[in-house]
Amino acid sequence: MKKNKTGTYYDEWTEHYMNTGYGNVIQAHRPADVNQLLDYIALNANIKDGMQILDAGCGICGPAIFFAQKFNIKITALTISPKQSEIAKNLIEENNLSSKIDVMVGDYHHLDKYFEPQSFDLVIMLESFGHCLSQKKVIAGINNVLKDDAHLYIKDYFKKGFNGSSKRRSDMKKIMKNMNKIYSYNLPDPEETYKILRSMDMEMIYMQRNKLPLFNDDSVKQFEKNHDIDVFMGGFHYQILEPLELYFKKPGNIDADII
Ligand SMILES: C[S@@+](CC[C@H](N)C(=O)[O-])C[C@H]1O[C@@H](n2cnc3c(N)ncnc32)[C@H](O)[C@@H]1O
Repeated sequence: MKKNKTGTYYDEWTEHYMNTGYGNVIQAHRPADVNQLLDYIALNANIKDGMQILDAGCGICGPAIFFAQKFNIKITALTISPKQSEIAKNLIEENNLSSKIDVMVGDYHHLDKYFEPQSFDLVIMLESFGHCLSQKKVIAGINNVLKDDAHLYIKDYFKKGFNGSSKRRSDMKKIMKNMNKIYSYNLPDPEETYKILRSMDMEMIYMQRNKLPLFNDDSVKQFEKNHDIDVFMGGFHYQILEPLELYFKKPGNIDADII
């Protein structure tokens, strides 16, 4: 596996995100109203009172704080960036949520190092899955820490197929490369993700295009303009990326007799 540089990336960039359009929620695929985004996620990830949740790639805990204010839940929030964890800790304290959210620095490729098997009712990955260096390792770890019949929810951008004219294909390749380099990403191929989930016996509840109404994408545009970033070479990102949501269940006893 390549050396993971994402922690350094977020140590350096988190305050820029916070101050330029993103606020406390570092997600690019969003409607104008951030509460609408988080309500949508809570609904689609089926967050319920009483759950023990792992937020793998939690940012500065903007989403975790929102969910903990709405539900009677416990969230373990994991980020690879020490800087993010420091900011998150302050925000959690300011919001009096220390009894509900526990933030820690760690790498989601090594979940078995931090957590016992069968620890969580739900794992959420909100625009963090795309940073995976090994999808297999991350999903195997998630499968291990989920309880039987518990769920994984992923919201992220995924790779589109490279189709059309040779110019279009080569432009798409260039844009993917830009995006991965600039955002420390590793844009996942949805078919590969699906195959890995199935190889671990995870059951698909749904896999769908994100249905959030995008009133604007000002946060992304403002952020990129302010920092002289031109990932999309003047184009529009939905020609390149698919915003998807995946919701999978870890089955109970997979050795049960087939009758
Ligand atoms: C785009 S931000 C999303 C943050 C958060 N989910 C939100 O909605 O505000 C990506 C997050 O994934 C985290 N991340 C990336 N790679 C990680 C890894 N290997 N282990 C743990 N966290 C990771 C980053 O630290 C960052 O918090």
